[in-house]
Amino acid sequence: MSEAPHSNDKATMDDLLKENRLFEPSAEFKKNAVVNDEGIYASASANPQAYWVEHAKSLEWFKEWDQVLDWKPPFAKWFVGGKLNASYNCLDRHVKAGLGEKLAILWEGEPGDEQRLTYNDVYLAVNKFANGLKKLGVSKGDRVAIYMPMVPEAAYAMLACARIGAIHTVVFGGFSVDSLKGRILDADAKVLITADGGWRRGKIVPLKQTSDEAVDGCPCIEHMVVVRRTENEVSMQDGRDVWYHDLVADVADFCEPEPMDAEDVLFILYTSGTTGKPKGIIHTTGGYMTGAAATTKMVFDLKDDDVFWCTADVGWITGHSYIVYGPMANAATQVMYEGSPDYPERNRFWKIVEKYKVSKFYTAPTAIRAFMKWGTQWLEGSDLSSLKLLGSVGEPINPEAWMWYHEQIGKGRCPIVDTWWQTETGSIMISPLPALVATKPGSATRAMPGIDVRILTDEGKEIDKGGGYLAIKSPWPSMLRGIWGDEQRYRDTYWGRWPDTYFPGDGVKRDDDGYLWLLGRVDDVMLVAGHNISTMEVESALVDHQSVAESAVVGITDELKGQAIAAFVILKEGQNGDDAMTAALKQHVAEKIGAIARPKNIIFTAELPKTRSGKIMRRLLRDIAEGRALGDVTTLADPAVVQSLKDKYGDS
Ligand code: WTA
Repeated sequence: MSEAPHSNDKATMDDLLKENRLFEPSAEFKKNAVVNDEGIYASASANPQAYWVEHAKSLEWFKEWDQVLDWKPPFAKWFVGGKLNASYNCLDRHVKAGLGEKLAILWEGEPGDEQRLTYNDVYLAVNKFANGLKKLGVSKGDRVAIYMPMVPEAAYAMLACARIGAIHTVVFGGFSVDSLKGRILDADAKVLITADGGWRRGKIVPLKQTSDEAVDGCPCIEHMVVVRRTENEVSMQDGRDVWYHDLVADVADFCEPEPMDAEDVLFILYTSGTTGKPKGIIHTTGGYMTGAAATTKMVFDLKDDDVFWCTADVGWITGHSYIVYGPMANAATQVMYEGSPDYPERNRFWKIVEKYKVSKFYTAPTAIRAFMKWGTQWLEGSDLSSLKLLGSVGEPINPEAWMWYHEQIGKGRCPIVDTWWQTETGSIMISPLPALVATKPGSATRAMPGIDVRILTDEGKEIDKGGGYLAIKSPWPSMLRGIWGDEQRYRDTYWGRWPDTYFPGDGVKRDDDGYLWLLGRVDDVMLVAGHNISTMEVESALVDHQSVAESAVVGITDELKGQAIAAFVILKEGQNGDDAMTAALKQHVAEKIGAIARPKNIIFTAELPKTRSGKIMRRLLRDIAEGRALGDVTTLADPAVVQSLKDKYGDS
């Protein structure tokens, strides 16, 4: 329990939860690590440009840059005048270096079919696909939308666009007709690449059908390329639609990679967060590739013989940076899996780890909490001894979920990298370097070398310790270059709060040892009797209770205290949500972090409303807890969850 620094102007956030467990990397891990010189932090901060130049040089450039950085806030240009091609860096370079026979993608479909693809295989497929796109009239600067299942062709499509300088915009295959249509229209895409369908929990997701409905309202689309995957009946429109296998049947095996300017756009990726019209986040070629490649190697301690597995979908930034561009720029061997973690059974991920001898595993807290809820019996019978390092991304990870990951999956042997970053940042910003930083459960530890992280109050005053707003003071190569078609929104959203400083929208605190703790989105912070309390800390206290698998807390209007805390709780299987449990959980939170954070209401539930990328939508929970009509639900993954919560909350 702590007496947190607190100010009455509510400029800072209360710092309630204390965590003192510390895990050092083993001597063995340190000795062989990619980065094991502590001096990297000091040298990067003394001369960030020199630090980034060093990383940029690990890529192959057709022409070197004339200027490292041109910074006219809020617009940065990196490696000005340099020329390179992302697809060349992910493929040609490795084939030329004699790595053509190295395995690039160990792909497994949900039904159990597999493909083992070498760099030569991927190189050939991408060259042909690029020539196919050219045949359809796609050229440099054109936008191509990609709406695909997790099949190798999704990666080929991205790299084929990059090869000819077309700008891809990948739309997650779980999005609806309207979401797809909105993104295609906003990007003014000329071609849509999709598939007949994808497999998810044993069922076909009808991607082509959704594409047909979306494209109906999109006059900009001239052609649709369709990959055959699930072999369901689809309608092909004459003159507009073409099968991928036909498109690449009679094209040349080589396509000259387009020399792209470092600042030419590589892709647009829409991010909706939990509210508002999606923003088309723009990433360019040189800086993005530098950030993605460098962080993959350093954070995951990537070695030649590693088998890397990032479980994200290519429809999210994590799939862009840590499936396609980062690992492939490093000639990594990686697993790509099409389907769901619980199909046909809840041990599918562990079967895959065993089968392919995965050594570096990167997933999201939402998945880890599901595994916790399902129980350790699903780990039995799978050999996880190949694992060497574990990663987490997407949300704050509660200390108890971290401990579970560490003990049950990592068997106490594997360093955990909790990586904080965003679609907008392009690559990992806050994370331990695994051989250099001892970890604390639930802390993302410290800023990466070369990343200038600060904690600010509302007025922009910097604080060393305690909680406040996360801010990034200096530009970095993989930062977003803007919002597609909306410069003003770019300025307002990210640069409007303090002068020349990037505002990511997250709360953070620094503890006495200098460790950083992400506190969640600042829009979610609760104000209870004058204290700013982070949702993250109360949730972590709840998950710390042995019966709780997951929780989400929100502030609800309270006459006395301004706001009171309502906690939605998912119990572990076999636990009972009765009055005794309610009392025990309230007591547990009060003991763990203080009476101020004792929840007023506890609502037991089987599911929580989440976005399709697995983030909890607290805004909807607030609506439910306050009995309001629901706001925008278009980003919700499963609308039934909200209805059942409303029904339930109405009764209680
Ligand atoms: C949250 C995902 C705490 C955060 C790469 C951020 C995290 C948003 C972490 C970006 C983490 C991501 N700890 N919070 N390790 N990683 N977040 O754009 O709120 O899908 O602003 O990018 O996720 O989500 P996005």
